[in-house]
Amino acid sequence: MHTLKIAVIPGDGIGQEVVPPAQEALEVAGQRHNIRFEWTPFDWGADYYFKHGRMMPPTALELLAPHDAILLGAVGHTDIPDNVTLNGLLLPIRRGFDQYANVRPAVLFDGVESPLKGYGPGQIDMVVVRENTEGEYAQIGGFLYHHQPDEVAVQTSVFTRRGCERVIRHAFELARGRRKRVASITKSNAQGYSMVLWDRVFQRVASEYPDVATESLLVDAAAMNFVRRPASFDVVVGSNLFGDILSDLSAIVTGSIGLAASANLDPSRRFPSMFEPVHGTAPDIFGKGIANPMATMFSAAMMLDHLGHPAAAADLNRALREVLAARTAVTPDLGGTGTTRGVTAAVIERLRA
Ligand code: IPM
Ligand code: MN
Repeated sequence: MHTLKIAVIPGDGIGQEVVPPAQEALEVAGQRHNIRFEWTPFDWGADYYFKHGRMMPPTALELLAPHDAILLGAVGHTDIPDNVTLNGLLLPIRRGFDQYANVRPAVLFDGVESPLKGYGPGQIDMVVVRENTEGEYAQIGGFLYHHQPDEVAVQTSVFTRRGCERVIRHAFELARGRRKRVASITKSNAQGYSMVLWDRVFQRVASEYPDVATESLLVDAAAMNFVRRPASFDVVVGSNLFGDILSDLSAIVTGSIGLAASANLDPSRRFPSMFEPVHGTAPDIFGKGIANPMATMFSAAMMLDHLGHPAAAADLNRALREVLAARTAVTPDLGGTGTTRGVTAAVIERLRA
């Protein structure tokens, strides 16, 4: 019997509705594969902020560090500025635990319709690998003449050779286990320093992987091609901001943001990695019981995989795919009238089958 120590941060909005179902699914998958879960819940987020004036305690990273992984729901509240909630919880964990590779698969599953016409099951199957600790999110800068009429804001991007290289290498390693194609995304025609460094590092790393086919795309062209020829993409690697934007696009061309999983990985395993659905707190549907729990469940499967339990991960993925294909429990994001509970029950039934 293996024990996995998981820190659980449901967070805000539908984060609180989708995390318990994912835990339930993990419990059932665990029973079938000799895995026990030791959950440590953390009540951090907006409610914590209203009580304590901060999103999580100053010792948060120390409290999280002893866990094997972190399962996160979503962060944010309409009464608190987003830059406060996100820079108070999500982003400091990604940076503080050096989770430099944000991995976001996008697969068009059987039973799910793409808004793009002519694509069938499996015909879109890509993964966006997003740099997750620096770049445009480095959070270096400040205000001058703060709140005065002539106010100035400086927000500096930071691109390091090491930062580019390690995430690009991660993308190539991932591609080797897939269709052996990597597309690198920059904007080096306009941003002549950071993106040019990225391009150079990409060429260098690519030369070590002669078995992997590559292309370099400018981000505007990449956005167009995600729509025009999504089937041609296998692994896509880009900076923090470009990866952020393109991963919403990859999610929607494969049917729904409600299916979009993500892993914030520290591949060196010095720190716990964090697994979270790509969707946010969805205040528009919070409390209605109709949030799709599948993105969190797919993220939970990525967690199992990362923690050395590929068979359990495959089992959970299988159950999720079977429920999607059956179309008997379908939440509104996928065109159905189903509920979070209904989908969870269906997944658990398929897991037990
Ligand atoms: C995501 C989110 C976050 C990001 C926000 C909430 C800061 O959009 O995980 O994609 O941009 O990283
Ligand atoms: Mn995003």
